[in-house]
Amino acid sequence: MPVVRGKNIDVLFSPEQIAERNLDLAKQIATEPKEDLLVISILKGSFIFAADLLRALHAAGLEPEVEFITLSSYGKGTKSQGVRIIKDIDSEVRGRDVLLIDDILESGNTLRFARELMYERGARNVSIAVLLDKTCRREGTLNADFVGFECPDYFVVGYGMDVAYAFRELPFVGVVTGDA
Ligand code: IMP
Ligand code: MG
Repeated sequence: MPVVRGKNIDVLFSPEQIAERNLDLAKQIATEPKEDLLVISILKGSFIFAADLLRALHAAGLEPEVEFITLSSYGKGTKSQGVRIIKDIDSEVRGRDVLLIDDILESGNTLRFARELMYERGARNVSIAVLLDKTCRREGTLNADFVGFECPDYFVVGYGMDVAYAFRELPFVGVVTGDA
């Protein structure tokens, strides 16, 4: 079991599993024709997934433009209640196909906000790709179009995801289980 920062980390999804799944996802995404595709990575958690998925999209024959938006959930405790824009995209989305990339779909509040925002701005179609889906935590009916893995109800870290800014560099997705 890997030890990082003095903590034991249980590996849930290995680098190899993730890499293989990214290629599958990219192939799925590329099956439908795209109109002036704009891929938007939702920061900060999705930066590593987006970097890998984008290269898989290239391998699958797509030629997207790429943007970044930083969104933050606010509200009491750990439950996301509202979402606000910390740093917006610069690009025009009117008439374009947009693919939103995020690390985890949990309550759905973040992605619901992002999708509505892009439709309000005139996007032709908005689809959603997430590495992990915590279906059991969903509030409302939002679903992703492309899901890497169903995620058990643990707080996960690694592959871009953090606890207080730590553990983002891990090449796998894991769960902190305790002191080493
Ligand atoms: P939602 O708005 O409830 O769907 O929350 C999704 C966001 O919460 C994700 O984009 C993540 O940034 C964050 N998040 C949810 N669960 C976890 C977790 O287990 N580890 C790290 N971040 C998480
Ligand atoms: Mg996030």
